[in-house]
Amino acid sequence: MILVTGGAGFIGSNFVLEWLAQSDEPVVNVDKLTYAGNLNNLASLRDDTRHVFVHADICDSDKMQELLSTYKPTAIVHFAAESHVDRSIHGPAEFVRTNINGTFSLLEAARTYWAQLATADKEKFRFLHVSTDEVYGTLGPDDAPFSEATAYAPNSPYSASKAASDHLVRSYHHTYGLPTLTTNCSNNYGPYHFPEKLIPLIIANALAGKSLPIYGDGQQIRDWLYVGDHCTAIRRVLQAGKPGETYNIGGWNEKANLDVVHTLCDMLDALKPNATGVSYRNQITYVADRPGHDRRYAIDARKIERELGWKPAETFDSGIMKTLQWYLDNQEWVEDVQSGAYLKWLEKNYKQRDTATDTQAI
Ligand code: NAD
Ligand code: TYD
Repeated sequence: MILVTGGAGFIGSNFVLEWLAQSDEPVVNVDKLTYAGNLNNLASLRDDTRHVFVHADICDSDKMQELLSTYKPTAIVHFAAESHVDRSIHGPAEFVRTNINGTFSLLEAARTYWAQLATADKEKFRFLHVSTDEVYGTLGPDDAPFSEATAYAPNSPYSASKAASDHLVRSYHHTYGLPTLTTNCSNNYGPYHFPEKLIPLIIANALAGKSLPIYGDGQQIRDWLYVGDHCTAIRRVLQAGKPGETYNIGGWNEKANLDVVHTLCDMLDALKPNATGVSYRNQITYVADRPGHDRRYAIDARKIERELGWKPAETFDSGIMKTLQWYLDNQEWVEDVQSGAYLKWLEKNYKQRDTATDTQAI
């Protein structure tokens, strides 16, 4: 059994769904269900006893310890985080709490649990920390992409809190010998992406006839990776990564934001033309830039390819087509998020049950 944190969020839910599609090894999924956690993402697992959902906060170290003693996982895959840069600008405290203190609590629980394992289990155990390329800061147009040796230079409260968590994970390996693995990935996109992030926001706003906000001049560059490719990379690192190492994961898909938005508008024009016959591009609106906006991210993903044989399966063209089609086919999921209906899931699911428990297969 593995223990996943943040498995009701965007990447975590994709990871849990793919994990159980590929193996019978059960998953304990620990999630606080913040605004970003959505159990509708896991609806297909409702009757699947291989999936145990636990509504809990990673900052609760006693609870984490209890879960580790109960389920005895062979690995922890740690996704849980506050993840949106703009929210970190408006309210950094929650980012410090979950991303730094929460990772610390989880590490403490993992250290205690790991220390009492039998030698063979100790050697097998892994703590995989999922992090971001944003810890490296920003690149100029001609700079080499971020490698594992690039110095950390985070520029937003989000990236600073992730950088701090990466340092804690590193220290638990060097100081206590905990078999940690850290992955630093570029921008993901794909199904179940919360519509506050660029790609799902643009799709939802376009279809709703709303403006498509471009921060600043729209020439900021991100390296886009299809979420399914991120999940296969994490599985591969878990399987063959060397404890104490970090692996950069990227899609070799550097795109300016404005180009991404143009691509989405053109695809929508072809697949779901506006009733007025006017291109979705007409909804583009330039808005004030994000403070401290990083200009360019790019990942050098050669280490994971060389050492673990992983490389992305999707191109940007194939991944973005799958993504757009998913959003067109799952309008109800988007509407539930926008209306807030998804937040009522817990109330709906647990209110009428006889036994008050925060743990059950869903
Ligand atoms: P997300 O915001 O969609 O999901 C985060 C999940 O964590 C949610 O389900 C939320 O309920 C849960 N959570 C938050 N605080 C918690 C707490 N205190 N205790 C338990 N659960 C809590 O995020 P995401 O985009 O899926 O990102 C997952 C991880 O991947 C994060 O660590 C993020 O930094 C990293 N990452 C994301 C991207 C990206 O492009 N989205 C890229 C690289 C790395
Ligand atoms: P986002 O999806 O928030 O990811 P991140 O900030 O982690 O890279 O944003 C991706 C890029 O799109 C980033 O450069 C900010 C920009 N952006 C806009 O131009 N408009 C928007 O409405 C949003 C949400 C983002």
